Amino acid sequence: MQRKEELDRRKAGADAGGGEARIRKQHESGKLSARERIDLLLDSGTFTETGKLVRHQCHDFGMAKHVFDGDGVVTGYGEVEGRTVYVFAQDFTVFGGSLSAANAAKITRLMDMALKNGAPIVGLNDSGGARIQEGVLSLGGYADIFLRNTLASGVVPQISAIMGPCAGGAVYSPAITDFVFMVADSSYMFVTGPDVIKTVTHEDVTKEALGGSMTHNSVSGVGHFVSPNDEACLEDIRALLSYLPSNNQDEAPRRASSDPAEREAPELDTIVPAESNQPYDIKRVIQAVADNGEFFEVQAHFAGNIVIGFARMEGRSVGIVANQPSVLAGCLDINSSVKAARFVRFCDAFQIPIVTFVDVPGFLPGTDQEFGGIIRHGAKLLYAYAEAVVPKITVITRKAYGGAYCVMGSKQVRTDVNLAWPTAELAVMGPEGAVNVIYKREIGQAEDPESARAQKIAEFRERFANPFVAAEHGFIDDVIEPRRTRIELIRALRMLENKVDDSPRKRHGNIPL
Ligand code: HXC
Repeated sequence: MQRKEELDRRKAGADAGGGEARIRKQHESGKLSARERIDLLLDSGTFTETGKLVRHQCHDFGMAKHVFDGDGVVTGYGEVEGRTVYVFAQDFTVFGGSLSAANAAKITRLMDMALKNGAPIVGLNDSGGARIQEGVLSLGGYADIFLRNTLASGVVPQISAIMGPCAGGAVYSPAITDFVFMVADSSYMFVTGPDVIKTVTHEDVTKEALGGSMTHNSVSGVGHFVSPNDEACLEDIRALLSYLPSNNQDEAPRRASSDPAEREAPELDTIVPAESNQPYDIKRVIQAVADNGEFFEVQAHFAGNIVIGFARMEGRSVGIVANQPSVLAGCLDINSSVKAARFVRFCDAFQIPIVTFVDVPGFLPGTDQEFGGIIRHGAKLLYAYAEAVVPKITVITRKAYGGAYCVMGSKQVRTDVNLAWPTAELAVMGPEGAVNVIYKREIGQAEDPESARAQKIAEFRERFANPFVAAEHGFIDDVIEPRRTRIELIRALRMLENKVDDSPRKRHGNIPL
């Protein structure tokens, strides 16, 4: 009986976290407690807790007198839409959610289980970082987690939510994971905080400006999603998980679809403007072909010149990559290349077919881009496409110029099905640029250089700025009516359902990082 009482007392202690007052403070700052977050993330009543009775073993700094059952992180497993998910939630009410050796071991045990059993890991971060009283033991705990993040990468999906502070080396665990969610106004991430920055570089910067949710979602590219509050963030994580397989051997869950596979989208016939330098919104194309118009966009606020995200076709998950002509004319630059490359690699690791929409005038010119290394960053996207062995389907809606043609899922980087709309233009460069190079002397010597140039441009456009030359060479499998895009994509996806392809044996490639 005594044991039972002690067990009840310990479990109640763990449930209470840092106590009522600290939980109230957590609520007052707009944050849910660790347990409330887990309850919202998982299907109701499915959570099984692990390590609830773990305590820290630190005796320095009077720590023996401050012991909390569970030690500042709630760990366990449960279900999201009926599928197993492993979750840990740092409890800011216990030592500021700081990482001790004991709570790091709870997290790594959970990660080991997730890896063995092939299910996603969701980490809810809200922590003051390394448990200062534990010194290097805490640092070792972080390194143990980083190692497992790396080993689990490409085996099970890893998702991080930043729901409070995440600073110092602690940021590197989320950074290795596949998707980083942030909560507006209450989350921040940085390697060195405002005070250190002030001392070292004399810059004045607030926590929010330095590492708040929009900084990482729109400037640094560290964040993939921003949610207005904890509840919305946890709902968004559930939505993302619905598109993902549990592990790299599994298929993403397939949903029954009420949207007919043979549905035409007549609005696509007129979506590309007659003037080839006029913009249009590629997201309208994506929505027109996706089941029920649903598109789960990833990194919506970063590098808007490329659009990435998940959709379903006939109920099956697909990854979408699309140039966005309404931002920077859809040019590829450093940020868009890196954004799309990581997404392509995620899809390839987890057997999610990749559908690419191409309308790209080339790589963005300028010293900023060249000095910033567009060569190696653009190469990442090329590498990612070339390396990917999942079903790949490309639709060229308009421009596919220069190196960007090769990069964006061309036939030559082993894309399975390449389609083009009649408005497609595949060329080394646009007609204006091409004519200026190859007819420079002729135009210069003409009586009326301007009309000579206009005539050459018209000739070039007629001869080369179309899909037919590429189709003649088999680089394009078919030129399709835009309205039939969904139908053709679904047929291709069905045909590719059992695709098997591979690359030469190697330990791993050397992507130009
Ligand atoms: C131990 C910590 C702690 C930590 C906070 N607490 N951070 N305890 N180790 N790292 C405790 C506080 O003592 C306090 O305890 C409670 O958590 C809440 O903290 P407050 O300061 O009252 O909260 P708030 O005002 O909201 O400020 C939050 C904070 C601040 C900004 C995170 O606590 C802070 O600056 N903490 C230190 C951050 C830090 O420097 N961490 C080390 C970074 S280096 P009581 O008992 O009063 O409630 C690092 C390296 C990782 O993490 C390396 C990985 C390789």
